[in-house]
Amino acid sequence: MSDLDGLEKDLMTKIDAASSEAALEEVRIASLGKKGAVSERMKTLGKMSADERKQMGPALNGLKARITQAIEARKTTLEAAALDARLATERVDITLPARTSPKGKIHPVSQVTEEVVAIFSAMGFDVAEGPDIEDDFHNFTALNFPADHPARDMHDTFFFEPKQDGERMLLRTHTSPVQIRTMKTQAPPIRIIIPGRTYRCDSDQTHTPMFHQVEGLVIDRQTNMGHLKGTLEAFCKAFFEVDSVKTRFRPHFFPFTEPSAEMDIGYERVGKEIRIGQGADWMEILGCGMVHPNVLKNCGLDPDEFQGFAFGMGIDRLAMLKYGIPDLRDFFAADARWLEHYGFDPLDQPNLATGLSR
Ligand code: DAH
Repeated sequence: MSDLDGLEKDLMTKIDAASSEAALEEVRIASLGKKGAVSERMKTLGKMSADERKQMGPALNGLKARITQAIEARKTTLEAAALDARLATERVDITLPARTSPKGKIHPVSQVTEEVVAIFSAMGFDVAEGPDIEDDFHNFTALNFPADHPARDMHDTFFFEPKQDGERMLLRTHTSPVQIRTMKTQAPPIRIIIPGRTYRCDSDQTHTPMFHQVEGLVIDRQTNMGHLKGTLEAFCKAFFEVDSVKTRFRPHFFPFTEPSAEMDIGYERVGKEIRIGQGADWMEILGCGMVHPNVLKNCGLDPDEFQGFAFGMGIDRLAMLKYGIPDLRDFFAADARWLEHYGFDPLDQPNLATGLSR
């Protein structure tokens, strides 16, 4: 019996010590396999006397059962450990890296352009664009500037050297030529805004040789000044993010509109701050009017059939007003510290649902 106890202890120690399924299999073969220690003992039963067998039979069967069970238990433990190890090495990291704060800022001109586009898009306007280098026809003549009329001089135009045929191209002095390009290629109804770069030979605190405008044009059969006024007032409220704005239309002159007006908005100064919308003071913010019949004719449209309104305003000036930026020249100085201060987060796209400027 003590021989069997010794064997059991020895086998149990080996089972516990088996550190892999292969090592455990070796212990199983060495104990329960055909020539294993337990099996060899079983074979001796046949040669025993009946009494001896009566005693040894159950003892050996018990041993076999306990060893079998211990091997099974150890196997389960080893399998679980092997699976854990595999899971640990084959693990896939499905988390996203933390979002680093973006480098760089959106320039106020880009920001305001996006804001204006968001507002007019919501009113059903498309965005149109045209070339910076224009000819005299689109920039002046088709817009009803008479030849040698002083209105041409008002614009301090940058001209290129004359071409071989004598024509002088120019840098567009306003975004209005894109009105002509659109009316010549698209049938009414037309509802567009035209943001873009414009150029005039001028430089001081509020003028730079290159600046930005946004033009608006609506052409339909029955468009009138009421539509013009409603559209521009809705724009001002949305742009300045106020519930109401006081506006006033002052008669003015532009060759391409009749009647023409400048629109002023009410404001007041509180300390150093300018509050837009209400107040006793007026500030001019844009030019506008009903498209001149000659302009419609120059684009092949019959003024008895179609009419519409147009407006134009300075994007840089809107940015200075809304965001309190004192000097226009800084806009184009490419100073990273200025942009860091006045710029906008690239991930905050202006839109009417979550807010234009946040
Ligand atoms: N083109 C004008 C300028 O640069 C601005 C302007 C005024 C545009 C009235 C318009 C308009 O379309 O109707 O001074």
